[in-house]
Amino acid sequence: MGKPKVVLGVSGGIAAYKACELLRRLTESGHDVRVVPTASALHFVGAATWSALSGHPVSTEVWDDVHEVPHVRIGQQADLVVVAPATADTLARAAHGLADDLLTNTLLTARCPVVFAPAMHTEMWEHPATRENVATLRRRGAVVIEPAVGRLTGVDTGKGRLPEPAEIFEVCRRVLARGVAEPDLAGRHVVVSAGGTREPLDPVRFLGNRSSGKQGYALARTAAARGARVTLIAANTGLPDPAGVDVVQVGTAVQLREAVLKAASDADAVVMAAAVADFRPAAYAQGKIKKKDGQEPDPIVLVRNPDILAEISADRPRPGQVIVGFAAETDDVLANGRTKLKRKACDLLVVNEVGERKTFGSEENEAVILGADGSETPVPPGPKEALAEKVWDLVVTRLN
Ligand code: C5P
Repeated sequence: MGKPKVVLGVSGGIAAYKACELLRRLTESGHDVRVVPTASALHFVGAATWSALSGHPVSTEVWDDVHEVPHVRIGQQADLVVVAPATADTLARAAHGLADDLLTNTLLTARCPVVFAPAMHTEMWEHPATRENVATLRRRGAVVIEPAVGRLTGVDTGKGRLPEPAEIFEVCRRVLARGVAEPDLAGRHVVVSAGGTREPLDPVRFLGNRSSGKQGYALARTAAARGARVTLIAANTGLPDPAGVDVVQVGTAVQLREAVLKAASDADAVVMAAAVADFRPAAYAQGKIKKKDGQEPDPIVLVRNPDILAEISADRPRPGQVIVGFAAETDDVLANGRTKLKRKACDLLVVNEVGERKTFGSEENEAVILGADGSETPVPPGPKEALAEKVWDLVVTRLN
């Protein structure tokens, strides 16, 4: 089997220079990449750079090498088309099926998955014309990554930045691995919680847990690659934002509850991967708690935190919503899992065994996914992404 064929479409925005790094990552990981820039992209990065980095000739128009019919062949032969950066103009031309240059011709002839990574000023991204074009492309099955928030050209900041090339590469890798032209979570909104809450005792101390957030981030990344709009509620993870995901940072269980309830109101699925503290200190000391000579410390009085998973499973902010919980158990894993699934009344419960060296912070996970319908899906030890994909497979079956 030859190398997977990727078309990298580049349109005319300042972020075009970042596509060089995406190109490198794609070629170095064994992909055959053909770069198809728009004419305006060449104002930012020249054809010589694209050609040298990809090892292929580069043209923007359909009139070069006409005997090879490039306007049809490049798209037909591709296993993946990724457009990064995708400007407002390129999104509009793609949404309307124009074929006025080599890139738009390629988009019309491609029958493989297509990923757009938009980058533009916030006003352009938020304009109703762009919103509608993005919705059209998503409805047709394209993966349109949400732009990142941050510094834009010049002094402006806001939503519209091209996500980091490493993150776009991850989306491409996952879309290619699945090989689906129609991402099965397209048009869906999913909410994922990740990390571990911290319950403050005083301005410098908290009660926390050892959750790294990696499983939740894997869930968010894989859902985005399958076409979903993703809201990731992140509690104290310190991990970089995954591409195309709306990230809401929270600290405590109470803040996490608020953020989850807000995002869940229009969500098709909610996956509670966060380790939420069951208890919080009853009192918060405004100043740092001091040692007192000759005195034992005061005991810490705890109160219960709301059980968010049980609450949304009972109330179902949106009818038909699929709700997934996680259960980390140290013993009697399956029996405890079944009891917990009933008590929480969610649709799926991912049960895994934890211990000093198991799961927390590691790159691998092993689990059994229990269904409220009595199903039991074992997931063998493997990357957290593999478990995430399995969770979404089961969610998709329930959504359909
Ligand atoms: O009861 P336990 O903490 O083992 O349940 C774990 C599951 O419940 C996880 O999905 C976690 O996100 C969720 N949870 C919650 N609110 C809590 C405690 C746990 O949503 N207060």
